[in-house]
Formats: sequence, C-alpha cells, structure tokens
Amino acid sequence: MIHLRAGAALAAGLVLACGAGDSAAPAAPPAPSTRAAPTAAAPKVPAHDQAVQIFSTRCFVCHGPEGKGDGPGSAGLVPPPRNFQDPDWQASVSDEHIEQIIQYGGTAVGKSPTMPSNPDLMSKPDVVAALREHVRGLAR
Ligand code: HEC
Repeated sequence: MIHLRAGAALAAGLVLACGAGDSAAPAAPPAPSTRAAPTAAAPKVPAHDQAVQIFSTRCFVCHGPEGKGDGPGSAGLVPPPRNFQDPDWQASVSDEHIEQIIQYGGTAVGKSPTMPSNPDLMSKPDVVAALREHVRGLAR
C-alpha cells in the first residue's frame, strides 16, 4: 500500500535554493510604449519538495530522519515523538487528523503540547497534504 520511500533523499539533505530573489529592481518611470514584462514571480517550489525540506529541517528533530521517533531532540520527551513507521499507528489515524496536528499542534487534537503547531503552513494546504503523504510514506 505504501510506495513512497523518501528516507534516503532526506538523509542526503536536500538543499533548496528558495527565495533567491533579487527582488525589486529600481523602478524606472514607465515609458508609454513599454510592453509589460512577463511577471517574474518567485520560482514556485513544488509542494512535495517543500514538504521534504520541512520534514528534514523541522520534523526530523523529534521524529527522526526516517520517522522512527528518534530524532536528536527526542530524548526525554514524554510521550515520545510518534514513530511513523508503526503500521498500527498508521492504520489508527485519518489523513485529516495528521493534517490537523501538523498545522495546529498536539494541543489542538488532544495530544502532547510538545508536538508544535506550524502556523506558516495553515495557508498552504498543498504543502500540508504533501507532508501528510510523506508521513504516510514512512510506514514500514
Ligand atoms: C519538538 C518535537 C517535535 C517536532 C519538531 C515535531 N513533532 Fe510531531 N510529535 C511530537 C510528539 C512528542 C508527538 C507525540 C504526541 C502524543 O502522542 O501525544 C508527535 C506526534 C506527531 C504525530 C502523530 C499524532 C498522533 O495522533 O499520534 C504526527 C502526524 C506528527 N507529530 C507530525 C509532525 C510533523 C509533520 C512535524 C514537522 C512539521 C512534526 N511532527 C514536528 C514532537 C514533535
């Protein structure tokens, strides 16, 4: 049922060159005949890539690079960070529950407050969904 194996990619440490924006060039007064330049929007990093990067910079601290709950910040946490490889746990939670706890943190869903909220993701449902898929993909 699970076909996503991203652990190795995580360990390799993805570095995304995001926000490499040399943003506003000094605005010259618009010449009447100037054709509108194509909008140079910031390069859109795919949601999946953002999710992988977020996991390997935030979540791994507690949950570990492979989701085993053994990250460097996990020592002494009671309850311990969830082990995402546990198939019984995977079967026991809904996708919606996972997406809720990612955005709103443990307290919002009756879990430990040690599981932090991620307010910056509340406006990025595609990244939240990709993170949930990533968590699902860590199952053994
Ligand atoms: C500071 C440590 C910490 C960080 C960082 C952290 N978590 Fe957690 N997480 C926890 C702990 C502790 C639990 C267990 C909560 C409980 O069982 O009450 C948990 C539980 C979970 C659960 C399971 C909820 C359940 O119902 O069993 C999911 C899913 C989860 N975290 C996802 C994430 C994701 C995704 C990230 C990164 C965006 C992340 N966590 C970052 C500590 C952390």
